[in-house]
Amino acid sequence: MIKSTKYSSFLNQLKKNNIENSESKLYWLLEENYSEDIFNEKFCRLLNNEPLQYILGYWEFYGYSFFVNPSVLIPRPETEELIESILNIFSKKIDYFNEKRVIVDLCTGSGIIIITLFLELKKLLAKKYFENITFIATDISQDALLVAKKNSEKLTDNSIIFYQSDLFDFTNKNKYIKIDDFNKDSNNSNKKNIIYDNKQFFSEKIDILVSNPPYISIDDFKNLSEDVKKEPQIALTDGFDGLSIIKKIIDYSIFNQIDYLFMEIGYNQRESLENYLEELLKEKSKNSLLKYDNFNKLNDLSENNLNKQSYNFSIKKDISNNDRIFFMENFFCS
Ligand SMILES: C[S@@+](CC[C@H](N)C(=O)[O-])C[C@H]1O[C@@H](n2cnc3c(N)ncnc32)[C@H](O)[C@@H]1O
Repeated sequence: MIKSTKYSSFLNQLKKNNIENSESKLYWLLEENYSEDIFNEKFCRLLNNEPLQYILGYWEFYGYSFFVNPSVLIPRPETEELIESILNIFSKKIDYFNEKRVIVDLCTGSGIIIITLFLELKKLLAKKYFENITFIATDISQDALLVAKKNSEKLTDNSIIFYQSDLFDFTNKNKYIKIDDFNKDSNNSNKKNIIYDNKQFFSEKIDILVSNPPYISIDDFKNLSEDVKKEPQIALTDGFDGLSIIKKIIDYSIFNQIDYLFMEIGYNQRESLENYLEELLKEKSKNSLLKYDNFNKLNDLSENNLNKQSYNFSIKKDISNNDRIFFMENFFCS
């Protein structure tokens, strides 16, 4: 137990180090009732401007407590709004789940999106509809996936399938890695227990694609505050203009005739994405899509199919009035 007489000394040290919101961060640490040794170790990390969430080792998202560490993005309230939008749509389309459906969370990080959808859809849908859903999550980072898998083991029945994959590589026989097992003991032994299963690759059609991809441009990334830069760079920026991964996700969704796409986007990306979508969905632009080589199912789509498909799309604002949620729906589902 930390003596309250030391409180002002701790607070002064934090303020001297220019730690933002020092009162509330100190409050969080004190609330944990750590032993003195552990408190001192965690307090030093706070003085070093490490994000509070990493120091605590957990953070709340949509009412659930998720493990977090420096391999994953810290859950943000904007992403709760993404979940809200998805649930809003499907609460009015419950019959959509009267047949087998596949939901994929691309760029899953700590797994907050897929796990929350699993838990909330379980509440929303009748058992027979819920059991029609296959939940899949992917990320390029093995360390992030270990956190996601740990969260899935804690919060779900462990039926969510995880793939380590560069974007849509998990749909390609030669490029995916399925993470099949997870040892809780220590970080080092975790890695040894990942099974590279070459027999079971993803071969179904994705019905619902959800993603919070890295969407900050490399220029904006350079101007982020020092504590945000302690989150993984690969989780924040695509290394280019912030739109490169978003555009690949849109392209894949259209070429593979996905029913629904939900994505978190940057506050300043509306105009670029509207222009991109309009061009993409116009007859004359279709040929230009062929230049991408990561569309695994491109050859399966006849010209006829391409001409028939059409998408409605919209961009919704978040609670701070910033453009934030990109929604695209196959015309035949609306
Ligand atoms: C913005 S974070 C989102 C994490 C989590 N979904 C959330 O909302 O908190 C983006 C995630 O994308 C992953 N990522 C970055 N590039 C990727 C790629 N090419 N393929 C798959 N995942 C990628 C990062 O490792 C990171 O976990």
